Amino acid sequence: MKALQLIPSKEGNRIEIRDIDKPSVGTGQVLVRLHAAALNRRDAWIRQGMYPGIQQSVLGSDGCGTVAEVGSQVAQELLGKSVLINPNNNWGDNPSHQSEDYHILGMPSDGTFAEYILTTPDRLITKPDFISFAEAAALPLAGLTAYRAVFTHGQVSKGKKVLISGAGGGVAQFAFQFAVAAGAEVYVLSGKQEKIDKLMAMGAKGGFNYKDENWAKQIQKSVGSLDVAIDSAGGATFSNLIRLLGRSGVLVFYGATLGLPPKVDLFRMFFNQIRIQGSTMGNDEEFTQMIQFVAEHQIKPVIDSVRPFTDIASAFDTMDAGEGFGKLVIAFDV
Ligand SMILES: NC(=O)c1ccc[n+]([C@@H]2O[C@H](COP(=O)([O-])OP(=O)(O)OC[C@H]3O[C@@H](n4cnc5c(N)ncnc54)[C@H](OP(=O)(O)O)[C@@H]3O)[C@@H](O)[C@H]2O)c1
Repeated sequence: MKALQLIPSKEGNRIEIRDIDKPSVGTGQVLVRLHAAALNRRDAWIRQGMYPGIQQSVLGSDGCGTVAEVGSQVAQELLGKSVLINPNNNWGDNPSHQSEDYHILGMPSDGTFAEYILTTPDRLITKPDFISFAEAAALPLAGLTAYRAVFTHGQVSKGKKVLISGAGGGVAQFAFQFAVAAGAEVYVLSGKQEKIDKLMAMGAKGGFNYKDENWAKQIQKSVGSLDVAIDSAGGATFSNLIRLLGRSGVLVFYGATLGLPPKVDLFRMFFNQIRIQGSTMGNDEEFTQMIQFVAEHQIKPVIDSVRPFTDIASAFDTMDAGEGFGKLVIAFDV
């Protein structure tokens, strides 16, 4: 089968489509024939060597396909089912945090950038009918991260004032769609007017550009205090978000792309009873809840482009360039 392998090297990691053996199905396992997969920032950072524990493997955390083979002790009814793959491995027993054995699908374990993937039935969930394979492939990692940040930690609900920072990002777009679906008053912060316009058309109450140095003042003036801010930028954006939160406000962050914040206003934080909450991925129950929420609210993932597997390297380049709006999807059947 064809698979995109990461080849680690001191001179710089490479990615290459190679012919490798199709995995054989063992007891309790299933083989899924992938129809679509999607990129995450994680894949780009692994290629750039900016991720711990890099080793040769098939990359890709997001995928959707059809069950092609089942091993002994697996229900035959699974054969032919359209499924999404949960990228969590070994979350563990504590719903609050992942175990020491936790890892995300696609390095070190072989991931979804391949024609077939070997997995177990407990990693599969039925694809909702209303979305295509390409749309479903966009969901797993980013949707799960967004779901936990927005609902478990952010407690976003109807009427709350929520700011999604870097709203054009892969995870942030889901956070935006989920918060809008929950009936919150959702504002967006992005670096591109074009993205802000698209998000306004999708239900944002207001949009602000972080390239404008007065963005925080503009939000303060036109929106007032926020209940929830969701961020993955960190840096100076983070310091400003703390300033924008009102009493009992919560800042949920799942990344720190810009590094450490220059200032954390502890005085404001204790006086306003502000909570800063880190968030990573989500547990298996949240994965199921996320898919149910998507189905209930008929949320269609935003797709930037769908390109054939043979062009997958160009999707990595698009991600590095920070271009596009929506998920970068790879199709195996074209
Ligand atoms: N903890 C976890 O489980 C988890 C899971 C997934 C991702 N992550 C991390 O979260 C981050 C984002 O991941 P992603 O896949 O969503 O990446 P992505 O699609 O590349 O999104 C990154 C976004 O950051 C925004 N940004 C850049 N500079 C900013 C600034 N000064 N202020 C506010 N936003 C800014 C941009 O938003 P605009 O396009 O709107 O300008 C960009 O689209 C990465 O650090 C990633 O490693 C963590």
